[in-house]
Amino acid sequence: MAEPRLPGVVVVTGTDTDVGKTVVTAALVATLVAAGLAVAAYKPTQTGVAPGETGDMGEVERLTGALTAEGTRLIAPMAPRPAAQLEGRTLPSLTHHLEAIDHLSARHDVVVVEGAGGLLVELTAEGQTLADLAAALPDSGTVLVARSALGTLNHTMLTREALSHRGIRLLGVVIGSWPTDPDVIETTNRDYFAALPEGLLGTVPQGAPALSPEAFRTEAPLWLPGVAVATGASQRRGTP
Ligand SMILES: Nc1ncnc2c1ncn2[C@@H]1O[C@H](COP(=O)(O)OP(=O)(O)OP(=O)(O)O)[C@@H](O)[C@H]1O
Ligand SMILES: [Mg+2]
Repeated sequence: MAEPRLPGVVVVTGTDTDVGKTVVTAALVATLVAAGLAVAAYKPTQTGVAPGETGDMGEVERLTGALTAEGTRLIAPMAPRPAAQLEGRTLPSLTHHLEAIDHLSARHDVVVVEGAGGLLVELTAEGQTLADLAAALPDSGTVLVARSALGTLNHTMLTREALSHRGIRLLGVVIGSWPTDPDVIETTNRDYFAALPEGLLGTVPQGAPALSPEAFRTEAPLWLPGVAVATGASQRRGTP
């Protein structure tokens, strides 16, 4: 990371849905826990999951053992605002999410927040997005999850520009699924991200979600060297 100090809230966004935000959220949580930090994860709006089913936070909990929470859950597999409209539900407000994150922050060193889809997906009835949530969190930084394949440079740079335009701190990029046998497009994409000022925080290897939770927790810090360096002892709660 460009700055050594890790913020109290790490917001995980992506260039798209299905880019590996949940797996990266779990890898981040595991890396921070391995560094001795107390960590929780929060998903403001979970869609596409029925009551009782495992959502993204359930997956993070399975892989890391950390405490997680959801702001709300909608069944339709689509963006939160139209899903809420279809289901006749009221989405929680931005203030609700800020209070929920505050509540977790009071008991943890770091709260990792996973967005829904990409950065500008609307999370509230008023149309506020994950970018609005990140901008309203005073001590936060964003991790941008990207694909490895062709097209990722444009998507990543667009999201990066949207963050910069709003004055939201970008901690770095993570490639959500790094192939065992990368082609030249993938290796040059990775090198491009690594050369950005904030840099590449790491790559999560393809197949990571299929590892046992024990193996996932042991290996995660090796995938995210850019995060591991930002976790000093001074980060720990209660340390002056
Ligand atoms: N490193 C990886 N290796 C293998 N499969 C992966 C990897 N990362 C993600 N996947 C798979 O790709 C799919 C999408 O990943 P994931 O759920 O993490 O995406 P997401 O960005 O969190 O999506 P959403 O917007 O729905 O939250 C999942 O089935 C997941 O298991
Ligand atoms: Mg997810």
